[in-house]
Amino acid sequence: MKSYDQLFINGRWVSPVKGGTFETIDPCTERVIASVAAATAEDVDLAVKAAREAFDHGPWPRMSGAERGAVLRKIASGIRARLPELAEVEVRDNGKPLPEALWDLGDAAGCFEFYAGLAEELDGKAENAVALPDDRFSSIARKEPVGVAGAIIPWNFPMLMAAWKVAPALAAGCTMVLKPSELTPLTALELGNIAAAAELPAGVLNIVTGFGTDAGAALSEHPGIDKLAFTGSVPTGSKIMQTAARDIKNVSLELGGKSPFIVFDDSDIEAAVEWIMFGIFWNQGQVCSATSRVLVQRGIYERLLERLTDEVRKIRIGSGLEDGVLLGPIVSRGQYDKVQEALARGKLEGARLVTGGGRPAHLKTGYFMEPVVFADVAETSWIWREEIFGPVVCIRPFEDEAQALRSANDSRFGLAAAVMSKDLERCDRVARALRAGIVWINCSQPTFTEAPWGGYKQSGIGRELGEWGLNNYLETKQITRYDSDKPWGWYIK
Ligand code: NAI
Ligand code: MG
Repeated sequence: MKSYDQLFINGRWVSPVKGGTFETIDPCTERVIASVAAATAEDVDLAVKAAREAFDHGPWPRMSGAERGAVLRKIASGIRARLPELAEVEVRDNGKPLPEALWDLGDAAGCFEFYAGLAEELDGKAENAVALPDDRFSSIARKEPVGVAGAIIPWNFPMLMAAWKVAPALAAGCTMVLKPSELTPLTALELGNIAAAAELPAGVLNIVTGFGTDAGAALSEHPGIDKLAFTGSVPTGSKIMQTAARDIKNVSLELGGKSPFIVFDDSDIEAAVEWIMFGIFWNQGQVCSATSRVLVQRGIYERLLERLTDEVRKIRIGSGLEDGVLLGPIVSRGQYDKVQEALARGKLEGARLVTGGGRPAHLKTGYFMEPVVFADVAETSWIWREEIFGPVVCIRPFEDEAQALRSANDSRFGLAAAVMSKDLERCDRVARALRAGIVWINCSQPTFTEAPWGGYKQSGIGRELGEWGLNNYLETKQITRYDSDKPWGWYIK
């Protein structure tokens, strides 16, 4: 077993000041896979100071975008060169099926390449003339890195969530302190090695593993941080925002969801079944944008339910490393218990449990559960309204477009939504009326680094990915010059 008991601070691997460690567990075997350094406020302080020094005096923010882009491309190649090995680490730490881990890691490398391109473009685009109505003045708007960024990320896509924050921050010229989830810290630590091999200057990226209440809270409280980027639960996001409010830190939040999927009765049932399943069961349903509330038009409701149930029962469950497995274990004992509680709650609320919820008989260890289909779920019920973050889909029928839209939008969340129909005009109309940051038509979940990602309502603040993701890490400065040789005239007559 490799050792992961150090933190990556100022370009070096260092032991945590207080020497603490914690164990990370393989959710398939329930065995410890590594002992990992537990950072405390002292370590976070060192990491922030290193990032501050690298920002204030180091080469990174002063390099051209093209030079930064070249380093980002090396990081991407570093990930690609170790793809199978890193994917296996991800599977063992998180539980997800290997093809999905390979997918995530390829996307993570692609994210670094995409932002390398935006860094290169920044050289020509960072300064733009601003037209003023007074010809004695000339003005430009200039984009500059926001400073030292702190990133706190979750466990569902460990390396990919790191890439979504590290790549744009570094492209912009920021320096960063990254705090991975205590449930899945390993690939983020590997990113430290990859960054060092790519000759990223010391202090530009610092990685502190540890618990949310210690390392995470210390990062969100630290006065040396200019910008905080967080992905995770609504309660933690709210806490982070409150802490950040003290010294007016710039925050962007990507929080939970309870995303609707509206299926009209002219849809191809087989296509609907596949997208519904992918929308809620990939990554064991531990996806912020999972389409966990499915609204099916009355005309095909029972037929679709039947076909869906058939297919859901065929889903192969097991170790993420086993060929053909579609559903791995839930990430942790704690998350497994939460999903089981939601299941019990759904039954109590009177939803029809069509299939799933039990432990697959052939699996003796691991946080495994059969994927769940709840039908006839009441709109007022807890399972319809709250994020379960597991392989549980809630379905109910609807009569017409107006009712489907009202029901879909009746949520405190607004991350994603999906609509399926052969009538593309109807799809466009519904897509525009949905109150969500991401809308999929005739599909659910495909995600592109080029397109904006983020939520309405309590699903978050700000957008990641694309140029929007870069703007998260940029400040805008105006530089205005007085060009006239005449006195201003405030007091000289
Ligand atoms: P969480 O939101 O508590 O954890 C996410 C990150 O925040 C982790 O790195 C954690 O260490 C850190 N953190 C925790 N408390 C903190 C604090 N006080 N200050 C600063 N950082 C802190 O999520 P958790 O507990 O892992 O999962 C709980 C629920 O959150 C899930 O059941 C799910 O509903 C939701 N969730 C949503 C995600 C999304 O992508 N939107 C991802 C992960 C979880
Ligand atoms: Mg783990």
